[in-house]
Amino acid sequence: SIIPVILCGGSGTRLWPLSREKYPKQVLTLFGKDSLLQATLKRTDGNIHNSNISTQPIVICNEEYRFVIAEQLRQMDRRGKIILEPVGRNTAPALTLAALEAEESDADPILLVMPADHVITEVASFQAIVKEGARYAEEGHIVTFGIVPDYPETGYGYIKMDEQLLSDIGATHIAQFVEKPDLATAEAYISTGRYLWNSGLFMLRASVWLEALAICRPDILDAAKQAWQGKNVDGDFIRVEKSMFASCPGDSIDYAVMEQVANSLSGLPTGIVIPLQAGWSDIGAWDSFWKVLPQDEDKNALRGDVFLDECENTLALSSSRLLACVGIKNIAVIETPDAVLVVDKNRTQDVKKIVERLNQQA
Ligand code: GDD
Ligand code: MG
Repeated sequence: SIIPVILCGGSGTRLWPLSREKYPKQVLTLFGKDSLLQATLKRTDGNIHNSNISTQPIVICNEEYRFVIAEQLRQMDRRGKIILEPVGRNTAPALTLAALEAEESDADPILLVMPADHVITEVASFQAIVKEGARYAEEGHIVTFGIVPDYPETGYGYIKMDEQLLSDIGATHIAQFVEKPDLATAEAYISTGRYLWNSGLFMLRASVWLEALAICRPDILDAAKQAWQGKNVDGDFIRVEKSMFASCPGDSIDYAVMEQVANSLSGLPTGIVIPLQAGWSDIGAWDSFWKVLPQDEDKNALRGDVFLDECENTLALSSSRLLACVGIKNIAVIETPDAVLVVDKNRTQDVKKIVERLNQQA
């Protein structure tokens, strides 16, 4: 079977003041009535195309978020394993813990690795592609899903497609994987038309991840394994051994393994990329949130009790009061009961810095 693995770390500081330390973005309800985490889980529901996805996910998150996450699973009538990290060590150690759990509970299942903070509007297309991915993952490949880029984003990974098509939906071997290139490199990649963004979704067998990590980063594998061996199981919660996990080197799946997979280092599994056209977006900052909301003819996106007059390209979000904006352009205004953010829509990445400064003062 296929086990959903949900990477649910991080607090999403760029979405302040809606996301807070105690209430990270994954558990926020930004669209409809489900949180981003719940929408991620629902995306695997319903067995569309017989994709055979387990209804018992593995969620990996920080210890601090255990109650809100358990509560959100409960609301959906979901039982799954919730692996608690005492500290964040990035996605490579997190996936390693999930792979170790999966191997204990099943015979080398396929993991469908999903970040908890993405929006995918076309669920049926997503599931069709996942089914296709499962074919390759089953054979021992590492499967990635690529998005046709529309601008030279430097916050994403880039995957170069091989020339030879493996299937009619456009799957190819990964010719190159470059995590977060600089702007000039990203521009050059886009101009070739041969690169896709890495969506951050992966499919692979648990054993394939562990073997690949053993080759690329045995230090991470050893520390994560020891932390796993010292774990404490408390109902659905699994707490890994704190000091061992704290000593685990931090790195992402992308840097630790994916860049090497494409370098065809001996012994590593091969990487496959499948184009994903399913209305994917990474809700990283307010500008990407603005992009996925419905917009009026002046490209304004509003939420809540908002009144706009002669504004353009504005994101206005109110949660507790009437919010009025007059004659502004390219600005995001986010109102919450105790904090209001006004930010240039080209500078929404910098909200992170404000939050860091606020934390220092506190
Ligand atoms: N459990 C856990 N622990 N989850 C984590 C941790 C951690 O220490 N660190 C990050 N995550 C979760 C995040 O919450 C997110 O859901 C996912 O893992 C990816 O981490 P990000 O920090 O958001 O990565 P990124 O956006 O910079 O880059 C990744 O995603 C891009 C697409 O959105 C890479 O895979 C890029 O190559 C990719 O383009
Ligand atoms: Mg991200």
